[in-house]
Amino acid sequence: MTSEPVRLYEPGFHTDPTDSYRRMRAEHGPVVPVLMEGDVPAWLVIGYLELHHVLVTSSVFARDPRRWNAWDRVPENWSMLPVVMPLPNMLSAEGEDHRRRAQAVNAALSGGDPHELRAVTVRLADRLVDGFCTSAGAELRGQYAARIPALVLCWMFGLDEERGEELTAIMSTVFDAGPDVMKAYTDLAARVGELVALRRARPGPDVVSRLISDPRGYTDEELVPELLAVLGGGHQTTTEWIGNALRLMLTDSRFSASLSGARSSVREALNEVLWEDSPSQMQAGRYAAHDVELGGQRIRKGDMVLLGYAAANKDPQLHASQAGRERANHAHLSFSHGEHGCPYAARELAENIAVTAIEVLLDRLPDIELAVAPEELRWRPSPWVRGVASLPVTFTPALPQGAP
Ligand code: HEM
Repeated sequence: MTSEPVRLYEPGFHTDPTDSYRRMRAEHGPVVPVLMEGDVPAWLVIGYLELHHVLVTSSVFARDPRRWNAWDRVPENWSMLPVVMPLPNMLSAEGEDHRRRAQAVNAALSGGDPHELRAVTVRLADRLVDGFCTSAGAELRGQYAARIPALVLCWMFGLDEERGEELTAIMSTVFDAGPDVMKAYTDLAARVGELVALRRARPGPDVVSRLISDPRGYTDEELVPELLAVLGGGHQTTTEWIGNALRLMLTDSRFSASLSGARSSVREALNEVLWEDSPSQMQAGRYAAHDVELGGQRIRKGDMVLLGYAAANKDPQLHASQAGRERANHAHLSFSHGEHGCPYAARELAENIAVTAIEVLLDRLPDIELAVAPEELRWRPSPWVRGVASLPVTFTPALPQGAP
């Protein structure tokens, strides 16, 4: 199949990606030639079966960005650089090196006490609600969804609450990708470096200490980028997951009756979001280890393959074969799949944080309502993540938890 490549940086793609995917499918089939910003070429995989194949065939669709054959076409200050550049951590690692890193990270993330994690998440969520509950309104994405995952992760890393707050603020700057992004990133890396030095001297019951003592034997130079991958992988995706689920619950009448009631609806909303508004919309990616045919397209050695998770989740072929049962299951690809898929301990952690955060919010502010018409809500203009830009709400003012 040959035809004009699709420009991914055109506004239509951000405002209505579902319609863009529909048109791409009609014109190109499951594998689409695309141009990223600066007209840098890649292949976007939007077919469910084709994406699944890419994710489980790492000998052909490999992870290390140094394999890319278009580095010479990358413009200076390219905005995609942060998501494409090779990093000395598990994200770029392949083969045995990757397997050992993934095992170490999984073990470090699952080594804590789940009851304690739940209690800490409740405490941190309550503290955030205390910060706005006495007024009649709040902006839930910025004041709540975008803070709780980082605060919990910082606690898991063994940071005290003051340092956790500081790091959370720096992470917001990194993910908002404004003009201060590189300075914020350097600051974040320096602080994680200080934490590693501290934990080497005084180990504790935390993720950093567990990684330090892993039999893999991490050096300090390896540990900082690995920990940044965990923070980065966890914070923004979980933020968008919570924000998108709250948006669904506040705008869809199927959930509104249960806002202050049935807790099971929180999990249903979170699962539906993974199918309909996946926080992980698209990712770069994989790089062809040799020439290969995929979905009717000829992919050359070193070509970049973009992973279209959100598009694949909505592949009409999958939905036809599942006859409407799909919403209840976990066959979506929002956590990716295969060797580089989101570690199982991380998925569980993200779900625990998201469920607890939403439950606490609804318990504390049961009559919460959207402050604007649903159609006024906007999505963040990013091809990589899908998340609401803001979520203004109103509610009856309430007393803070500690108030008499
Ligand atoms: C506390 C929460 C989370 C943590 C700590 C975390 C951590 C990670 C890490 C370390 C990786 C790299 C895996 C590897 O390269 O082997 C990863 C990959 C990934 N995660 Fe997560 N994650 C979290 C939540 C989420 C959520 C909520 C989503 C989306 C709903 C998500 C989607 C993904 C995806 C799509 C990948 C890409 C895997 C690939 O290249 O195939 N993660 N995550």
